Amino acid sequence: MSHKNMMKSPVFENSYVIGVISVLLIFGSLAECKEPSSSKLKNFDYPAINCRKHSAVLTDFGGVGDGKTLNTKAFNSAITNLSQYANDGGAQLIVPPGKWLTGSFNLTSHFTLFLQKDSVILASQDESEWPQFPVLPSYGSGRNASDGRFSSLVFGTNLTDVIITGNNGTIDGQGSYWWDKFHKGQMKITRPYMIEIMYSDQIQISNLTLINSPSWFVHPVYSSNIIINGLTILAPVDIPNTDGIDPDSCTNVRIEDNYIVSGDDCIAIKSGWDEYGIKFGKPSQQIIIRRLTCISPKSAMVALGSEMSGGIQDVRVEDVTAIKTESAVRIKTAIGRGAYVKDIFVKGMNLDTMKYVFWMTGSYKSHPDNGFDPNALPKISEINYRDVTAKNVTIAGKLDGISNDPFTGICVSNATIEMSAHKKKLPWNCTDVSGVTSNVSPTPCELLAEKEKFECPFPTDKLTIENVQFKTCNFKSSVIR
Ligand SMILES: *[C@@H]1O[C@H](CO)[C@@H](O)[C@H](O)[C@H]1NC(C)=O
Ligand SMILES: *[C@@H]1O[C@H](CO)[C@@H](O)[C@H](O)[C@H]1NC(C)=O
Ligand SMILES: *[C@@H]1O[C@H](CO)[C@@H](O)[C@H](O)[C@H]1NC(C)=O
Ligand SMILES: *[C@@H]1O[C@H](CO)[C@@H](O)[C@H](O)[C@H]1NC(C)=O
Ligand SMILES: *[C@@H]1O[C@H](CO)[C@@H](O)[C@H](O)[C@H]1NC(C)=O
Ligand SMILES: *[C@@H]1O[C@H](CO)[C@@H](O)[C@H](O)[C@H]1NC(C)=O
Ligand SMILES: *[C@@H]1O[C@H](CO)[C@@H](O)[C@H](O)[C@H]1NC(C)=O
Ligand SMILES: *[C@@H]1O[C@H](CO)[C@@H](O)[C@H](O)[C@H]1NC(C)=O
Ligand SMILES: *[C@@H]1O[C@H](CO)[C@@H](O)[C@H](O)[C@H]1NC(C)=O
Repeated sequence: MSHKNMMKSPVFENSYVIGVISVLLIFGSLAECKEPSSSKLKNFDYPAINCRKHSAVLTDFGGVGDGKTLNTKAFNSAITNLSQYANDGGAQLIVPPGKWLTGSFNLTSHFTLFLQKDSVILASQDESEWPQFPVLPSYGSGRNASDGRFSSLVFGTNLTDVIITGNNGTIDGQGSYWWDKFHKGQMKITRPYMIEIMYSDQIQISNLTLINSPSWFVHPVYSSNIIINGLTILAPVDIPNTDGIDPDSCTNVRIEDNYIVSGDDCIAIKSGWDEYGIKFGKPSQQIIIRRLTCISPKSAMVALGSEMSGGIQDVRVEDVTAIKTESAVRIKTAIGRGAYVKDIFVKGMNLDTMKYVFWMTGSYKSHPDNGFDPNALPKISEINYRDVTAKNVTIAGKLDGISNDPFTGICVSNATIEMSAHKKKLPWNCTDVSGVTSNVSPTPCELLAEKEKFECPFPTDKLTIENVQFKTCNFKSSVIR
């Protein structure tokens, strides 16, 4: 389905509201007689791409928020029950204040999971609460694994119109169990992610605090029309693979107003790995990232790759901040990846305490297996950066293309980089790249020729996902299903 469904006309919305009000008038008193637990909750409003006609509260399905009782069954039976309303205005499941321990559960279509303020979903540390899945077709093998991966805590596949939001409620992955096992080399299959949505269209993930994921936090894959905003994502900076948001073979993605502290990339855009990604052939494209704040001492604010074998194109990054971060918008690729990274536009980066500002690596190690094609050379071109201020920087630019396969069309303009006291002798070092620079200090490498009074391009058109507007949705304690 297209994004058009997210934008109902005002006329349609009004008649919808009137419909809801009349249902309210007729059934309002009836619902109150039943005294459902939801009647103890206050009414509230929230922004979402789609509103829901039916509501339920986790406690209606036996949920216990004491931090000890397992709620996997409560989540699964609530969502199974609410899935019957998919074609009748959809449903929202409210998670009230409390600590809700649970294993992995699945979402459904035309559905909203809403975490109220002071509600915490606690991920179980019991492995039997996490079903095992086959590896993704575009990867061929999991990280640190050959055959399989754990399901994510909150999982959805083949869905249309699914929302995970709240009034800054929390999902706590309780990752220490998995990090310990990983560090001891005891993980036989890939660690769970916190949220994964596969093969889906119209996704909103917003206004939540996500902490301590076993590995990646938010992984939309083979999906389209995605909005991710207002997330606070926190992982210890020394735990590997705790990427914040990883759009993977996704189209039309809007990522705004997020604050991410991670032991890995804050955002990593991916599209499959070597021969498996090339065969699957699904790019990541039409992606906008705005107003991100990132802290990632060991990794990038935004990484493109290293798995990019379905291609990455038309990525726009605007008005972003990184502090104590290894690099800003980094390209990682290797021989064997094939495909391309092209039409990347970055405008407005404010950086403080960075190892690298500009970093591109054409020799990123790690292959799924030895079956990669040594002739599958990635094509890296049209990479644009402008309006950059950075201070306390060790290396301004380290740009390494691939010999016989140079990275081309690199453009940097209006960049002021203050080097740190510990700076390397050579602020820039470039091999196998070509492009232009204008008004950049310190003076760039010779391969990036100086061009007078030139600005690198940034698109003026809007992506279709930027036109999607939030509606004001509500929960009324008196209307239950
Ligand atoms: C699930 O839905 C049915 C309506 O189909 C309803 O009668 C039933 O009470 C619901 N289950 C629970 C536990 O609320
Ligand atoms: C969740 O979905 C996956 C993939 O379709 C499936 O294997 C699993 O059994 C589902 N889990 C539940 C509890 O329905
Ligand atoms: C989900 O969609 C994919 C791609 O269209 C398809 O291959 C797969 O069989 C579907 N899975 C389910 C459980 O419907
Ligand atoms: C949400 O909660 C986190 C963690 O307590 C806090 O840092 C953040 O500022 C809160 N966000 C909003 C919008 O209140
Ligand atoms: C897991 O994979 C990462 C990167 O692919 C690698 O650096 C690490 O050594 C591996 N760890 C184990 C325990 O295999
Ligand atoms: C949700 O987050 C956005 C920032 O993306 C913020 O402007 C908005 O006020 C938040 N809404 C709620 C209900 O907290
Ligand atoms: C240069 O970049 C800075 C931000 O780093 C911005 O404030 C300024 O407007 C830019 N100058 C031009 C001429 O675009
Ligand atoms: C500058 O960066 C170094 C690391 O390279 C860090 O130790 C130091 O605290 C930073 N200084 C300031 C003033 O932020
Ligand atoms: C510049 O980068 C190349 C390729 O990575 C490396 O071999 C060379 O040693 C670097 N030069 C300096 C002076 O760091």
